[in-house]
Amino acid sequence: MTSSADAPAEKEPPNPRVLILSCSPHTGGTTDAVARVLEQTLSAHGGLAETIRLRDHDVRPCIGCGFCSDHPGTCVFDDEAARLFQRLDAAHTLIVAAPVYFYGPPAALKGFIDRAQSRWALRESGRAPARPRRPARAVLCAARTNGERLFEASLLILRCFLDTLGFDMRDPLLLRGAERPADILHPPALARIEAMGCEAAGEGLRLRHE
Ligand SMILES: Cc1cc2nc3c(=O)[nH]c(=O)nc-3n(C[C@H](O)[C@H](O)[C@H](O)COP(=O)(O)O)c2cc1C
Repeated sequence: MTSSADAPAEKEPPNPRVLILSCSPHTGGTTDAVARVLEQTLSAHGGLAETIRLRDHDVRPCIGCGFCSDHPGTCVFDDEAARLFQRLDAAHTLIVAAPVYFYGPPAALKGFIDRAQSRWALRESGRAPARPRRPARAVLCAARTNGERLFEASLLILRCFLDTLGFDMRDPLLLRGAERPADILHPPALARIEAMGCEAAGEGLRLRHE
């Protein structure tokens, strides 16, 4: 069975202004706490926030079979990846929240990212539907407090993934010393997360009216 990654976006759920893609496998961890703060900030600033918790969805990792090279925009797997890509397509703006695991994205996020190969193949084929590019942001949580290159791999991978999906990455929020929720639920860190939420809410509202 195959699935189409370029089918028109469905009506349900309603077009979000800001989609939060929360990407930790850990229930109740730091990334979930960041996503909650973002949701609250977005609603307080008139944004319509929708959160996707990646771990709640059945997404098989890419097996590199080449099917999407031969049939751009489609995949051999009929799981939830195509539907998730459609929800990303429907967002006016996106925030990806993720932990750093071994200097990169956690496995399930990387698995989802690799599934964007079908979108990359579609774009290369010149048959991708024309869509305006949209802004995206990333919030990354890592336990270490130092290390110049701590976020480098995650940022490079995310930038490439988001570009493939038609998003331009804005300045990321990089949270160090963020091992557990208590490490970000204090005023200085909260202020930085809320500031990103405000920015995204403003941008989402503006883009919705364009
Ligand atoms: C498998 C694994 C690998 C990790 N690797 C790193 C790392 O390379 N650098 C770092 O600073 N923290 C690392 N951490 C710590 C997490 O980034 C940190 O605890 C984060 O807050 C976890 O977020 P979560 O609870 O939402 O998953 C790792 C944690 C796990 C479970």
